[in-house]
Amino acid sequence: MTDRISATHPLLISARRGSECESLGGADNAARWTPPAYLLERSPSWWAYAHPISVRVFEREWLINAILFGNYDRLRRATLEALGPDYSGRTLQVACAYGGFTPELAQRVGAAGGSLDVIDALPAQIDNVRRKAAEHPCVRATLMDSAALDFRERAFDRVVMFMLLHEQPEEWRRRTIAEAARVLKLGGRLVATDYARPDWRHPLRYLLPPALALLEPFALALLRRPIESFFAGAPLRFAAPHRTFFGRLYQLVVLEKI
Ligand SMILES: C[S@@+](CC[C@H](N)C(=O)[O-])C[C@H]1O[C@@H](n2cnc3c(N)ncnc32)[C@H](O)[C@@H]1O
Repeated sequence: MTDRISATHPLLISARRGSECESLGGADNAARWTPPAYLLERSPSWWAYAHPISVRVFEREWLINAILFGNYDRLRRATLEALGPDYSGRTLQVACAYGGFTPELAQRVGAAGGSLDVIDALPAQIDNVRRKAAEHPCVRATLMDSAALDFRERAFDRVVMFMLLHEQPEEWRRRTIAEAARVLKLGGRLVATDYARPDWRHPLRYLLPPALALLEPFALALLRRPIESFFAGAPLRFAAPHRTFFGRLYQLVVLEKI
């Protein structure tokens, strides 16, 4: 991947400010880390994830619930249920998410004696998830690009992407799915929850696209194309019926590594 932001880019410097990751060494050193350029330059909503102050503002369950039109709890529960019931072994959460998703997943993984790796490309998100999961020793949070995972092949029993794919441009989405498939064990499960094209009677079918075009332009692809098309070519097969929520505005897919 060459499309990376310069380490001295002003947006990245402001995004790093206040990050506790800077005190860490090795690959996790936020001072040397350069996230994919699209996150800070091409995504109009970058500020919602990148800056420590935004993290403090957005880390509120009611706010995330409002952004998801009251569906946060439902989507979180459905995603966690689709990942389980066995949470032993190694679980990977690709990209952080606001709210109680990670603590709840950590609780389930910890109770089963497993381990949970959470990766994200932004230092402020990694700091935040470390804070949220501080009481769960089974959690390890690492700065990483989902399109170039620093894990060996077939390392994980399950992988989850909660509302991630709509944040990514086409090429990154394709690489992210390929990487998730690579690090999954044979028979391992990949669960992805994201936007979909709402039913024709749904008012948001007409209102959402212009809003997304403004705030999250990469999300439009999830409304225009069936999610299967993004997984084509990856060694994955659908392992459960495709589920939709809230008049099909959201979808959940469960795939298995073959
Ligand atoms: C998973 S979505 C969060 C969705 C939802 N709004 C929520 O909070 O529940 C956003 C996260 O994806 C991360 N992200 C986007 N592209 C990434 C990439 N290439 N590698 C790792 N993390 C990425 C962002 O840094 C951000 O923390």
